[in-house]
Amino acid sequence: MYKYELKNINLSQMKQLATNLAKIFVAGDVVALNGDLGAGKSTIARFIIQSFLGDETNVPSPTFTLVQTYEAKKFDIWHMDLYRLEEPTQIIELGVEEAFSNSLCLIEWAEKGQGFLPREIMNINIENGDCLNSRNIVFLGDKFKQKKLDKLINGDEKK
Ligand SMILES: Nc1ncnc2c1ncn2[C@@H]1O[C@H](COP(=O)(O)OP(=O)(O)OP(=O)(O)O)[C@@H](O)[C@H]1O
Ligand SMILES: [Mg+2]
Repeated sequence: MYKYELKNINLSQMKQLATNLAKIFVAGDVVALNGDLGAGKSTIARFIIQSFLGDETNVPSPTFTLVQTYEAKKFDIWHMDLYRLEEPTQIIELGVEEAFSNSLCLIEWAEKGQGFLPREIMNINIENGDCLNSRNIVFLGDKFKQKKLDKLINGDEKK
């Protein structure tokens, strides 16, 4: 299990982080975006999607539709918000199984789909930072993508 924490990230640093993350994502990656209402889950998802498709891409919050899909060059991106899911089995009806293997999945309120998510998942937890508009970002995962994430966060320095 790994844990990396970035403290007091402002909105433009969030965008930069999303751009860097977009470079390590491939088809079949599943990312849970965790945090309270207004934490910034949709915001980071929007920045990630725009890194693939351009800043002008409209990325609405999928709160009501549960899922919005995008076609990036190499794979589709599924942006999901499971807040309104009534029961976890409902995500199977959305067709997630195929998306979990072929698409990049960015999932808000992933805990609502518990039991139906793949085993290998990257958790990005967003919490309030020390000042207004700053956020602490915690990456948690079980080896999945650790090497790439380590390089992204710590650079190439030998520790
Ligand atoms: N450093 C920051 N990182 C992310 N968002 C920030 C930051 N500073 C300010 N914000 C603002 O906080 C708000 C976050 O809203 P957002 O819709 O992304 O939250 P959410 O976690 O998706 O909430 P919900 O659970 O309702 O879906 C946005 O208005 C965004 O501009
Ligand atoms: Mg949201």
